[in-house]
Amino acid sequence: MKILITGAAGFIGSNFTHFIVEKYPSYKVIALDNLSPYSNMENISSLEKDNKIIFEKADIIDFEKISEIYKKYEIDNVVNFAAESHNDRAIIDPSIFAKVNALGAQQLLEASRQFNVKRHIHISTIEVYGEQGKDTPYFTENSPLNAKTPYSAAKAAGDLLVRAYMQTYEDMDICITHCANNYGPYQFPEKLIPLAVSNLIQGKKVALYGDGKQRRDWLHVYDHCLAIDLILQMKERPSFGKDAATQASKLPIYDISARNEVTNIDIVKIILEEMNLDFDKWVEFVADRPNHDRRYLINPEKIETQLNFKPTINFDKGIRETVRWYMDNEKWWRDILKRSNNLQIDWSKSK
Ligand SMILES: NC(=O)c1ccc[n+]([C@@H]2O[C@H](COP(=O)([O-])OP(=O)(O)OC[C@H]3O[C@@H](n4cnc5c(N)ncnc54)[C@H](O)[C@@H]3O)[C@@H](O)[C@H]2O)c1
Repeated sequence: MKILITGAAGFIGSNFTHFIVEKYPSYKVIALDNLSPYSNMENISSLEKDNKIIFEKADIIDFEKISEIYKKYEIDNVVNFAAESHNDRAIIDPSIFAKVNALGAQQLLEASRQFNVKRHIHISTIEVYGEQGKDTPYFTENSPLNAKTPYSAAKAAGDLLVRAYMQTYEDMDICITHCANNYGPYQFPEKLIPLAVSNLIQGKKVALYGDGKQRRDWLHVYDHCLAIDLILQMKERPSFGKDAATQASKLPIYDISARNEVTNIDIVKIILEEMNLDFDKWVEFVADRPNHDRRYLINPEKIETQLNFKPTINFDKGIRETVRWYMDNEKWWRDILKRSNNLQIDWSKSK
């Protein structure tokens, strides 16, 4: 199989690239990334050095270049992780998010259409469903797309384009995933866990937004890779009829979660405990980011029953191992900090 993995120098894309190389040594893996400032080639450079992957620097919006890559490698399957991914940055600069997450998703899919790719998996997020109301126990594949932040709205726009392709070009084999918040190694140190650990090691406090009681649904990145692999290995894409237009769960859309709902404050408490540091001394509550979702949780029943998905990593063990990974891999994040501006946004000063 010749597989194209886009966003391969990012957090989940690089974990998935390692996963595929280890599990399927016979696959030809084309890893693609535009090497945005929020990527890290270091995540996959050992694989490139050992000739286990071929790396292509390209932008998914650049249709001509992407087409050349499809033609050159005769790509069978595509997994698209390429995206602008940080909610905070999307508030400061929403345009690039709309371009990459909506137009970029469509351009890549169009290349898959023109080059008759066998299966195209579009990686989306739980956040397209928006914020969970008090009367909604969880979201499912049938929940309306109701994103309200510039990041999640751009992802939802991408989703709608992908859903349109799914239903218009019926012979195309396209799947969408909506995953819970991921944690694990190689996450860019602008996100909660690596940012907190790297701040603490540098003697800086952890800044908790608002009251810190925002609830998130957490899944280890390895289990996310397992779920995507189940979708990749499906013998046939499930067929769907016209009623899928009003019942999205009939489309090949899969919500992925391990049902671990944890508040941000509790995540920070675990980090401090693992680092033997005192909460009152090392945490400061700061201005919340505007329009911050309070809660979202998804029900993974469909992927559990249809594809037998079972998460393998216990949350408490996984999160503590993740904290230790950032403690043990100081050079990895210090190299990123050397080339990045301040990754912590102060919302009391921003407009
Ligand atoms: N991190 C999470 O918790 C989470 C949860 C659910 C879904 N997702 C989704 O998974 C995907 C990957 O997320 P991540 O956390 O690994 O993000 P990330 O920011 O770590 O990685 C994204 C990668 O895409 C690359 N990229 C950006 N624009 C590109 C472009 N125009 N062309 C080519 N490459 C480009 C970046 O350089 C980066 O390496 C995203 O689609 C995100 O919405 C993430």
